[in-house]
Amino acid sequence: SEDEVVNITYIDKDGNRIKVRGKVGDNVMYLAHRYEIPMEGACEASLACTTCHVYVPPEYFDKLPPSEEKEDDLLDMAPFLKENSRLGCQIVLTKELEGIEVTLPKATRNFYVDGHKPKPH
Ligand code: FES
Repeated sequence: SEDEVVNITYIDKDGNRIKVRGKVGDNVMYLAHRYEIPMEGACEASLACTTCHVYVPPEYFDKLPPSEEKEDDLLDMAPFLKENSRLGCQIVLTKELEGIEVTLPKATRNFYVDGHKPKPH
């Protein structure tokens, strides 16, 4: 229903803005894939990569549940880390996030963690 809609804008690394109508419960990384937005997700949301790295505006950053230690450890290895960095696959849309904009970093780096082999994308 309309109550469930959460509008989100993805800003790609060239600054293109892609508006998407998501819904409550959508995972920001999988939602991007559904709309062919170039957000990677090499480990399929298993917290074993940093390819789903995004920046979240401060006003929304504070509305997200705090990151787990594992997410923080991964982000520490992400290129172009900022104060407002999160992993896109750890963001689930809620009504509170209506209007959120997430920005993709200039580049991501893939690497192997915990024996996870990234799938070709
Ligand atoms: Fe690997 Fe998000 S897809 S941590």
